[in-house]
Amino acid sequence: MSLFSENFHVFFFFFFFLTLHFSSSSAASIPAVGVTFSTNATVYLPRPERVASALRSLKIACVRLPDPNPKNIRAFTYSDISLLLSIPNSFVPEMALNQSNALKWLSHNVVPFYPHALISSISVGDDVLKPSSTNLSDSVLPAIRNVYRGLHQLGIRKISVSTTFSFVDVVTTAFPPSSAEFRKPIVQSLVKPLLEFLSSTNSSLLINMHPYKLYRSHPEIPIGFALFQEQPFNFRDDLKTGARYRNLFDMMVDSVISATATLGHDRIPVVVTETGWPSYGGEDEGDATEDYAHMYNTGLLKHLQSGLGTPLRREGVAEIYIYELFDEDGKKTTSERHWGILYPNLTKKYEIDFSGSAESGRGTDDCFQRVMGSLLLTLILVEVLVQQLVLEDRVNSRA
Ligand SMILES: *[C@@H]1O[C@H](CO)[C@@H](O)[C@H](O)[C@H]1NC(C)=O
Ligand SMILES: *[C@@H]1O[C@H](CO)[C@@H](O)[C@H](O)[C@H]1NC(C)=O
Ligand SMILES: *[C@@H]1O[C@H](CO)[C@@H](O)[C@H](O)[C@H]1NC(C)=O
Ligand SMILES: *[C@@H]1O[C@H](CO)[C@@H](O)[C@H](O)[C@H]1NC(C)=O
Ligand SMILES: *[C@@H]1O[C@H](CO)[C@@H](O)[C@H](O)[C@H]1NC(C)=O
Repeated sequence: MSLFSENFHVFFFFFFFLTLHFSSSSAASIPAVGVTFSTNATVYLPRPERVASALRSLKIACVRLPDPNPKNIRAFTYSDISLLLSIPNSFVPEMALNQSNALKWLSHNVVPFYPHALISSISVGDDVLKPSSTNLSDSVLPAIRNVYRGLHQLGIRKISVSTTFSFVDVVTTAFPPSSAEFRKPIVQSLVKPLLEFLSSTNSSLLINMHPYKLYRSHPEIPIGFALFQEQPFNFRDDLKTGARYRNLFDMMVDSVISATATLGHDRIPVVVTETGWPSYGGEDEGDATEDYAHMYNTGLLKHLQSGLGTPLRREGVAEIYIYELFDEDGKKTTSERHWGILYPNLTKKYEIDFSGSAESGRGTDDCFQRVMGSLLLTLILVEVLVQQLVLEDRVNSRA
């Protein structure tokens, strides 16, 4: 009896820690996966309500609206899809100048819908450093502060505020990730104060990250490395950190993480606001094909669902938005127009399955925890029973 009881104790504690281990580790590492839904297409698109319900049935966890308007936001009220709203670049300078401009935008796009629409974050501008006639590098921080203060004035404290960079505009290199830094001219004036703001407000660094573009400008990168193809010799080592990379995406994420670490902020969550692959590119973009787009997006989802994170960050990226839901006919070059994963009739261009991402991931995780929980409870009851038997045994033998 006592031998059994002792073994049982060992087993009990082993099981207890196993449960703890699983319930704490499996939840964190699968990011929420969503899509960018731009309504700036020139072709006919279905009503936003129909798009929202299609996205729900595809099990998409979050949606990024690069050109939000009340009609689109309303379509996502009373759903479990969370929203990332981007304030268009053209509004940024005026919001930097005057807080009432920020409040005006919030009163149209947030106040009527929040919290029935799960607005999780606002990006003040998108790709704010892209070479263009309006240089936003001076206005983005003041605009962020005005939006942040505006939200607080309205009593809204759970929406985080940030801005969106493009990888190529802000990070020096991805080879190797450990040598990546932010580009010099913007470090002191923009990146450092932004990271300080993000870290003090629990917000994330938002970044558009396109392995397709890096692959195009670096002919030495094998296509399989960009497309998540696992092959025995398909890896790059970072000799400084000892990390081994099996795909270009992880290298880019870790470059961003290294760059933030050089400025003393190595814990800021990274959200990938855009990533994808074009399915058609015209004559000079032979790698923009439906097959490759399919390989990239499904390879990416499978990689995220593995929960492995990246070599430098166990939990990986915090959220990720596939670029994009529909093709945009208004874009300049042929390949820019063909990043969509759905046709306007809401059928898929190619097979892609979101059901393993955080939304449903949370479900199976809950289920797993519930099963483990009830097993644990049973074990506790058995343990109590055994203790009682042992006690009775001792009392009996004394008597
Ligand atoms: C801010 O803008 C509003 C309307 O655009 C204007 O009425 C107000 O005077 C401005 N405030 C400042 C401090 O410039
Ligand atoms: C934007 O302006 C800042 C300083 O005002 C400058 O350092 C930066 O190089 C400019 N960027 C572009 C793309 O013109
Ligand atoms: C940030 O998050 C931490 C932990 O979740 C919390 O303790 C802290 O109060 C948060 N800070 C802000 C400014 O929300
Ligand atoms: C919408 O598309 C037009 C071209 O059709 C472009 O000029 C404009 O910048 C786009 N707006 C956004 C928010 O992307
Ligand atoms: C949806 O549109 C695509 C492209 O135009 C077409 O190939 C496909 O057959 C359509 N599917 C349905 C169900 O209408």
